Amino acid sequence: MSTKPRILIARRIFPEVVQRLAQHFEVQANDEDIAWTPQELAAQLADKDGALTTGSQRIDAPLLALCPRLKIVANMAVGYNNFDVAAMRAAGVLGSNTPDVLTETTADFGFALLMATARRMAEAEHYLRAGLWQNWRYDMFAGAEVHGSTLAILGMGRIGQAIARRGAHGFGMRVLYHNRSRLAPELEAECRAEYVGKDELLARADHLMLVLPYTQQSHHAIGAAELARMKPTATLINIARGGIVDDAALAQALAERRIAAAGLDVFEGEPAVHPELLQVPNVVLTPHIASATVATRLAMANLAADNLIAFFRDGQALTPVEMT
Ligand code: GLV
Repeated sequence: MSTKPRILIARRIFPEVVQRLAQHFEVQANDEDIAWTPQELAAQLADKDGALTTGSQRIDAPLLALCPRLKIVANMAVGYNNFDVAAMRAAGVLGSNTPDVLTETTADFGFALLMATARRMAEAEHYLRAGLWQNWRYDMFAGAEVHGSTLAILGMGRIGQAIARRGAHGFGMRVLYHNRSRLAPELEAECRAEYVGKDELLARADHLMLVLPYTQQSHHAIGAAELARMKPTATLINIARGGIVDDAALAQALAERRIAAAGLDVFEGEPAVHPELLQVPNVVLTPHIASATVATRLAMANLAADNLIAFFRDGQALTPVEMT
């Protein structure tokens, strides 16, 4: 009988990473890439010692009650709002995530989405594809300036800082930020970022970038009241998590042009998208792909695998999440 720990890989990932894991574990992979229901996931995990998850599988008390052997869940994502940390702690299950390896790639995407939104690239492309382009017009898809404008960042962790550097050093932007805690002065200087209160951040933003984790406290951090504080010319970019923005309030603000445009990579209740967001033209929509380059997704899968390997070998994950 095999003495290797048993692990579940909850979604299809790179075959080479599955093979690497198979050298250490008895692996059950999800080759059909089925998005299991919570009940199906619990049934798959019932006899497993560890799991590699992708951020969409909820790990909570009802599931943990059915998985008595489980010791670690390694998320292939930096965000871990799919973990009920208190329930995991109570069940003696460690969580890990994949910080650092995706920081620069995710910041690149944040900037790409900012530029696509400010410069109305999706609207313009749809227009061209629809055969509507007849001739030049002075105001055709005239958007908002990026260089030299004010970039406002809500949430100033690693990704927020990487976006600040791009804005300040690459595009000559004035960078403002708001965060639970203020950065050390050296880091503020390096990012050329000025700390302001949330209301000031909203009021002064030409482009507001959301990069904060999703928690009970950040639920609807941007709702009707916050949108009302923003300039009618401003853009809003969300590469953080669905639920941080009240999508219904945002769709209404976009429809009424109370802000100019939005770029959204994440949605409340994704993969469903609020139907009114699909109707308004001034929004760029992408399916949660901010970290999706081949190299970065491979690095994330390898780090999640390394967390499992290190945990079962040394009793410690490389990048555990805060379990308090
Ligand atoms: C993606 O959303 C991640 O948290 O890594």
